[in-house]
Order: sequence, then C-alpha cells, then structure tokens
Amino acid sequence: MIPESFIQDLLTRIDIVDLIDRHVRLKKAGANYMACCPFHSEKTPSFTVSPTKQFYHCFGCGAHGTAIGFLMEYQGLGFVEAIQEMASSIGVAVPDERRDGDSEKRETLRDLLEVMGRARDFYKESLKKSEKAINYLKERGLSGETAARFGIGYAPEGWNSLKAVFPDNYDSQELIAAGLVLENEEGRRYDRFRDRIIFPIINAKGATIGFGGRVIEQGEPKYLNSPETSLFEKGRELFGLPQARQTLRAENRAIVVEGYMDVAALAERGIGNALATLGTATTREHTQKLFRQVDSVVFCFDGDMAGRKAAWRALENALDSLTEIKSVSFVFLPDGEDPDSFTRKRGKAAFEKLIREAMPLSSFLINELKKQCDLDSAEGRARLIAEAKPLLLRLSAPLLRLQLVKRLAEEGGFSQTEVERLSGIKGYAPSAPPEPPKRAAPSLPRTLARLALQRPLLVSRIPLELLPPSKERAILEAIIENLPRLPSVPNYAQLREQLRGHSLEAECDALAGEWIHLQLAEDKIEQEFLDALTRLEEGKRRTKFADLQKKASQFGLTGLTTEEKERYSQLLLEKTGANPLKQPG
Ligand code: GTP
Ligand code: MN
Repeated sequence: MIPESFIQDLLTRIDIVDLIDRHVRLKKAGANYMACCPFHSEKTPSFTVSPTKQFYHCFGCGAHGTAIGFLMEYQGLGFVEAIQEMASSIGVAVPDERRDGDSEKRETLRDLLEVMGRARDFYKESLKKSEKAINYLKERGLSGETAARFGIGYAPEGWNSLKAVFPDNYDSQELIAAGLVLENEEGRRYDRFRDRIIFPIINAKGATIGFGGRVIEQGEPKYLNSPETSLFEKGRELFGLPQARQTLRAENRAIVVEGYMDVAALAERGIGNALATLGTATTREHTQKLFRQVDSVVFCFDGDMAGRKAAWRALENALDSLTEIKSVSFVFLPDGEDPDSFTRKRGKAAFEKLIREAMPLSSFLINELKKQCDLDSAEGRARLIAEAKPLLLRLSAPLLRLQLVKRLAEEGGFSQTEVERLSGIKGYAPSAPPEPPKRAAPSLPRTLARLALQRPLLVSRIPLELLPPSKERAILEAIIENLPRLPSVPNYAQLREQLRGHSLEAECDALAGEWIHLQLAEDKIEQEFLDALTRLEEGKRRTKFADLQKKASQFGLTGLTTEEKERYSQLLLEKTGANPLKQPG
C-alpha cells in the first residue's frame, strides 16, 4: 500500500497544468487553461484546467479529476501505476507501507481493504494448489494468463479455510463486516466462499472490494457474491473495469455483458473491453461511469424474455446520460447463447460483427413499444405516443429526440408537431443557438458543500444538524469523515483523491465543476462562508419563530412554557422591536 501522505505530497509537488500540457496543448484563458477535451470529441474547448485549484473539469462530458485522475484516464493507467509515473517524473521513489508493524489504530475502511486484499491473495494461492479448480478453468477455455489478468482464485473446501490467513482475527467482527465469514445460529463461524472459483471485484484504485464465487460443476446457488459493505456498492461497480481500461480507450467502446465468465472468456479471445454488472440491473451510475471513458456502450444480452427485460432497464437508465456523441446500442444473442458460448463456437470475428451491427437505442425503443401497442387501432396508436412520452421527456439529446419523434409520428400516423405537442416536448429549432445550461441560484447546502470542497477545513465550523438530509449534507459528512486522513491544511485535489471511489464522487465532481471559473471567490471564501452561516442561523430562527407563533396563536401565550415565552419574545423583539410580554405603559 502506498501511504496516503505520499500521495498528498505528490499532489502538492506536481503541477497539473505542466502534466496535462505534456499530453494536450493547453491555452491560457483568464486564470484557467483550456483545450478541446481529450475524453470526448468536440470542436470548441470545454476542457478546463485550474492551476490554483489543481484539477480539470470538462463541461461537455463531465470528465473531472486531479493530476492522478488525468494520468489514469488519459493513459489508461491503474491508480498505482499513475502514482509511480508521477513520482518517477520528479525522480522520487514510491514508498511501500508494510502491512504489519504499525500498532496505531487504523481506520475501519483501511482495515476492510486490507482484509479483502489478504483474502484475495489467499484465494489466488489456493488456485495454484487445486488441480480440480485449474482443470475446471482449463475446460472452460481460460488460460493462466487470463486467470492472472482477472486475479481469479479458488476458495478451498472446508468450513474455515480463511483461518489460515486470519489466525488471530477469524473471530473478530471485521471478517463478518467484510462479508467473508458468516455466523450460524449457534454462533459458530464459517467461510462464505467454499469450494468455489473466485472472481475478485476490483475498484479504480486497484483495491479488491468484493468477490463473486462460482460453484465448480453443479450446485446452488451457481454464483455467490459478497454482500454490500461500506466498500462495495453493487449498483456502482462493474466487473472487469480496471482490466478493460486500455482497450476501452483504444476502441472508444464498452461492451456490457451479464456474466463474469463472459468477461473472462471474451478477454481470452482477444476482446478486452467487456465488463459485467454484478448480477444486478444496469444503473444510471454504471452508464455514467462508462460514458466517462467511452462514447459508445453496447449492451449484450440473451435474446430471451429476461434478456430483453434487462435491456429495457438499461435503456431507461441510460436515457438521461445520452448526448449526440454518447450512444447506447443493443445486441441480442441467439437463444441459449451467451458471449462465452457464442465466441467459443463462432469465434471472435463473428462476435465483433454483432457488436458493430448492434441495434441502436432508438430502434430498440420503438420496437419494444410497438410490441405493446396494437398499431392497427386508433387506441393503440395513441397508446404508442403515451408510452413514449415519459421516455422522450427524459432524453436530453435534441437530435436523437427529433429522430425518435419522427419515427413515432410515422408509426402512429401522426404529424411530427402532433407528437411533440402530445408528449409535451418542445420542438427542435435547428437555427437557435445552444442555450447555456440554466442554473437556479445554488441552495444554501450547495453553497456550503462547494465552499467545503474549496477549503475542507471549513466543515468543522458548519452546524450540520441544521441542514436537512440531502446529497450536499452527505458530501459534508464525507469530508468530515476524511479530514483525519488529510494533511493539516488540505486542498481540493488532496481531498478529491481521498474521495476516489466514494459513492458521492460524481456529485462532488459536478459541484467542483461549478466553481472552477469562480476566480475571485478564492480570497473571499471566508466572507462567503460567514454569510452562508448567517443565512443558516437565520433560517433556523425563522423556523423556530414560526413554530412558536403557531403554538401561541393556537393556545395563547399561556400555552407556551416559560422558556418558550422568553425565546418567543426575544425573536419577536429582533424581528419587530415589540415585546408581547411587556405590558404597554
Ligand atoms: P457460467 O454458467 O459459468 O457460464 O456463468 P455466466 O457468467 O454465463 O452466468 P449466467 O449467465 O448464468 O449469469 C450471469 C450473472 O448473473 C453471473 O455472472 C452472476 O453475476 C449472476 N448470477 C447467476 N446466477 C446467480 C445466482 O445463482 N446467484 C446470484 N446472486 N447471482 C447469479
Ligand atoms: Mn455462461
């Protein structure tokens, strides 16, 4: 493990402008630097790099990150590789923090990661010793190289194999929290994964955060997955992402398949850009994550009912991430085939052909809707538009929407304008200049969260209990949680690296993007912060006053306790200068 302090030092020593400029020509624009975004194709620059804040942000595709993030995304490096490259560019060696020997109490997340890493190493070693497991993988056509690429392992038979790895803490809460060990009703502990092929699920930092385990031959359940933990949220992770990084960049396309085995089999046959969800539906986070790295996402599912249903879910969750550049398409395999069996029988080229000829999202959408509606009847045609309406409304890409509207009009026997009117969407006006994104004035919690990203130490001065539960409050909480691991005066880039892989990552990036152009704010942060705190306090007073006023008007002043009366008169005095408790004269 690389010590966090080393990463934080590196971030203060390397200038992100220098680093990015070596790969992408940057031009000075005001206090920032700009370029055409290297992560999506565009003609006018929306990729911005801030020298004072040490991060980049693209207003076109949302790409966002620190110097480390840039190297990872641009060169397709893993987290550790990016650190190594940065360190060697300034001629320093990366220290390796040994796992043992530090007695200080460590954070639970770190502990969890450590535990998962050790279990992964153990499973990997156990594979080497199990002829049965090796034979199984061989039979399924996987080479040792592919097994190594995915870190595939084997969990031995027996109830307590992990005791060999964790002799002292097999009975601790940690292993249960990590999802590696279970406890039966009599309180006896046993390994979750027994006699299974193990697929480690690895995050962007290269850390193992979960496992999927497949039975060898027959047995129930066929796949057993790690439970969700504070490290591992199934709706955000994809199996095979770190392994696919380079191919994703090269091909500018991701293939989402259903199974771990499919990902491994495709890699074996030279298709390195396949990923799998973790036995769950495809979420918005999945699609957004992929669109950060590629312009085209192809979902490859079974041709059966279940496959079509899964594809429909994926479609619904992709609609609001689509742009004119970011596209989604679908491949439905012949009945009974999955990508593994298909490529085994028909080969790589046949599969690549399917991918190239994938059905565009618009066709899939129209086809599925047509199946539900009887287009021979007037009612059926009206229903077609009604069913399409919520989908059209979620689609923000104007040209794509126009195409869909045209096809719906054709299918339903309406005019284009009728479809637009019936589904409540505005027609596309090709001559109108693109509207700048409209933003309401940021809410108070949003302002506070943004300020706390700018200057993390401010969080400790925010009375969090006054904020209603919200994304912004959760961000503030995440900052508080991470402060102990940051330098005494942390900056944004250091904080951002600490939040890598956090479930609120995307929200933080969007928030930081709002501030990359706010130049003056830098020296006015304190004032802006104090103003925000004042507004927060005022809000609290107003609520309290309204409560008391309501109570007083319901029950009269005698209905208030002595304390409430005092508070009420104080608030009233502040508000109007009058005191209801003082008799006039
Ligand atoms: P093979 O049968 O080994 O080829 O596996 P596969 O990768 O083709 O898996 P399959 O198409 O049967 O399932 C796709 C994915 O669904 C798997 O990779 C798992 O993530 C998940 N899955 C399948 N079976 C189970 C199960 O019994 N339990 C759970 N929790 N998930 C499953
Ligand atoms: Mn399969």
